[in-house]
Amino acid sequence: MADDRPILVFDFGAQYAQLIARRIRERSVLSELVPHDLTMAEITARNPAGIVLSGGPASVNEPDAPSVDPALFDLGVPVLGICYGMQAMAQALGGTVSGTGAGEFGKAELTVQPDAVLFTGLSPTSSCWMSHNDSVTILPDGFRATASSPGAPVAAMEDVARRLHAVQFHPEVVHTPGGTDMLERFAIDVCGLAGTWTPRRVIDEQIERIRAQVGDRRVLCGLSGGVDSAVAALLVHRAVGDQLTCVFVDHGMLREGEAEQVVETFGHHYKVPLVHVQAQERFLTLLAGVTDPERKRKIIGEAFIRVFEEEARKLDDVGFLVQGTLYSDVIESGSNTAAKIKSHHNVGGLPDDMDLELCEPLRLLFKDEVRQVGSELGMPERMVWRQPFPGPGLAIRIIGDVTEERLNILRHADAVLQEEIRAADWYRRLWQSFAVLPTIRSVGVMGDARTYDYPIIIRAVTSEDAMTADWARLPYDLLERISTRIINEVDGVNRVALDISSKPPGTIEWE
Ligand code: XMP
Repeated sequence: MADDRPILVFDFGAQYAQLIARRIRERSVLSELVPHDLTMAEITARNPAGIVLSGGPASVNEPDAPSVDPALFDLGVPVLGICYGMQAMAQALGGTVSGTGAGEFGKAELTVQPDAVLFTGLSPTSSCWMSHNDSVTILPDGFRATASSPGAPVAAMEDVARRLHAVQFHPEVVHTPGGTDMLERFAIDVCGLAGTWTPRRVIDEQIERIRAQVGDRRVLCGLSGGVDSAVAALLVHRAVGDQLTCVFVDHGMLREGEAEQVVETFGHHYKVPLVHVQAQERFLTLLAGVTDPERKRKIIGEAFIRVFEEEARKLDDVGFLVQGTLYSDVIESGSNTAAKIKSHHNVGGLPDDMDLELCEPLRLLFKDEVRQVGSELGMPERMVWRQPFPGPGLAIRIIGDVTEERLNILRHADAVLQEEIRAADWYRRLWQSFAVLPTIRSVGVMGDARTYDYPIIIRAVTSEDAMTADWARLPYDLLERISTRIINEVDGVNRVALDISSKPPGTIEWE
């Protein structure tokens, strides 16, 4: 079926190139981001149903500006140019792009020809989001102008016969009303796709792919409790059943009930062969007396790899290691070719002599799509929607010495916090919410007695990608419930404070 073929988004360096692929996927069409300089042979090998040329920061008239090979337009594949992509298309096909001195940045009025293919159903006048200095001033042969704005007489163009379309504005951003409809018109009407690419399809495709890759060899997967490794493991288990062994290293720095949930979900519910390594004491011993945050991270990371490796060596004939690599990791690493094993304690870097091939069933998916796949696979809601949790776990939320007693205090306080946040329906609205235990103690009074106990600090942030974050404006009554319950229920705590720092300059975690 035609829907197996992707729409390739050529990345000319736009801030929004990823967003174009996401918007197209939201309309149930597979879309992948690729470098703009793919060769004709590479493009043909991928057999795209359509091509989108993204925006980019350059001007097509600069000497070193990235250009488009005119041969692209002879492939018979529909092309949509966006912003810079429209200008590169116009230039490659013999049109003219000039600096008119009337650039547009931000919202602009838009007048469209309602009979243009992309603008079906759009009112003749609306608005759009622009970001350009140059404009197409002379159309290439065969094209007609289909929209205009105050700063761009040719704000869109089409050559219906050759299935070539272009817009100067950004249909992928929310500030262009009807923008995603335009992308859908391109994907469905112009490229002829059916719009049936769904998480269910991804599951079926990946299961086939995993079977083909793995054959009858054994597969190893490290579970962290996070959503990515969990979904990857379940997909592989669907594909090859008991050829998969999951190793779950419990380093003792997990939240309340977390280890039990992994064991219950994987070991009992899905019946995935699971090695549950109880390494709590080993980690606590290694961490005794260590207060420097970076040393804590290093100790935990290294010990994690050692433990994982010890377990892996006990299994015979393992040929593959599952990793929950996401599409955003693939894009960030700047290549679509095989990723290296990161020496990351969540995943477990393995020494070269084990010679494992990677199996990465989530490589084509964004985080929200991974969650959809998890739901489709019947994974518990709690696991699917889990907030990010750092590999070193509670150890970097306990300032200073990590002891069993202090772990218990933090774990208990954190459980109360999570319970209240969920009950108030705030859990999914927050990027992360957690408790921090500092080293200081302060004086309080409980009953008629003086106390000298720890405070708990509440950290709750909103964020898109953890690069920046803002402290969440939690309602006072929710904060009050959290504070009262933690002080009443958690022994060793007599005060609750709220962290109201954004990132930057703060970080999300305290260590
Ligand atoms: P910061 O504290 O740097 O954290 O603002 C940004 C995001 O990364 C997570 N984080 C980690 N995740 N291993 C991980 O897997 C780590 O060592 C680690 N340190 C921080 C943090 O929870 C936040 O989401």
